[in-house]
Amino acid sequence: MLVLGLETSCDETGVALYDSEHGLLADALFSQIDLHRVYGGVVPELASRDHVKRMLPLIRQVLDEAGKSNVDIDAIAYTAGPGLVGALLVGASCAQALAFAWDIPALGVHHMEGHLLAPMLEEQPPAFPFVALLVSGGHTQLVRVDGIGQYQLLGESLDDAAGEAFDKTAKMMGLQYPGGPEIAKLALSGTPGRFKFPRPMTDRPGLEFSFSGLKTFTLNTWQQCQAAGDTCDQTRCDIALAFQQAVVDTLTIKCKRALKQTGLNNLVIAGGVSANQALRQSLEQMLADLNGAVFYARPEFCTDNGAMIAYAGCQRLLAGQHEDLSIKVQARWPMEQLPAL
Ligand code: KG4
Ligand code: ZN
Repeated sequence: MLVLGLETSCDETGVALYDSEHGLLADALFSQIDLHRVYGGVVPELASRDHVKRMLPLIRQVLDEAGKSNVDIDAIAYTAGPGLVGALLVGASCAQALAFAWDIPALGVHHMEGHLLAPMLEEQPPAFPFVALLVSGGHTQLVRVDGIGQYQLLGESLDDAAGEAFDKTAKMMGLQYPGGPEIAKLALSGTPGRFKFPRPMTDRPGLEFSFSGLKTFTLNTWQQCQAAGDTCDQTRCDIALAFQQAVVDTLTIKCKRALKQTGLNNLVIAGGVSANQALRQSLEQMLADLNGAVFYARPEFCTDNGAMIAYAGCQRLLAGQHEDLSIKVQARWPMEQLPAL
């Protein structure tokens, strides 16, 4: 089955062609980062309008790259939520219009299920069951995964998502959007141990997260340095490292707890923050101690992309799922509501 995947939940237009027998055939992405950067974050209306502009040229591009034409496509998978409603509607409308014109089925895919399954596109995919840490701009969740659609939420953030904390902290320190990669870059030159930041909610049992206080702690530290006239590049790097290390340690401690609680020793990390090298190294070390393994997607498939939507959609379409031609999207959509395959 050849599936065209469309991703438009936020500020990336992602398009891909996934074949159930031959794997990923082509994948193209247009990132709107430069468009939103001047505003310090995503402007939803600009995002929607840009998706409209990019979608059809990207579809033509992946078809050309794969040497396929529209008659070869068996079904279309598109992100139906969660995300920005206007942006989601562009992908949904485009998918349903093409499905109608080409007389093929379309299926709305859950964006976080797309992220969660992205490591399946790699050479050594994880086997079920496993624990998944989903860390994106909008979500921080620990999930027990027994199969596609068999998701048990173990814990999540009570306030900011991990990626959101990276973005907001970076903005406070005058860094560009998106903040995660910027902080990671500065942290490479940071002095270990100069600042010690808290590891929120690790001193009590449970698998919940809270990153909002850490963000404020970082702001206070930065303001104290500014007040003391210490705003040199090295200080920025030192604060970036202390912040990143606090997030990484907190995520590692909670992942270890989740693995212990479930008795599992395979961990999947997915979503934009899973591209973070310090997080990967920390989790790899922890899993090595537990004789387990950590799985993640290649960096470009950690952040938003069409390949993960094409893959997740293909699994559900192969199981016979599809929908009518109505255009439905959901800004909020708990992943546990998805049907099991
Ligand atoms: O999954 P994603 O592309 O979009 C959402 O579904 O939200 O994640 C984007 C988030 C942003 O908050 C961005 O700052 C963060 O992922 N991110 C990173 C890194 N690369 C992207 N955070 C930390 N380190 C990185 N290397
Ligand atoms: Zn995402």
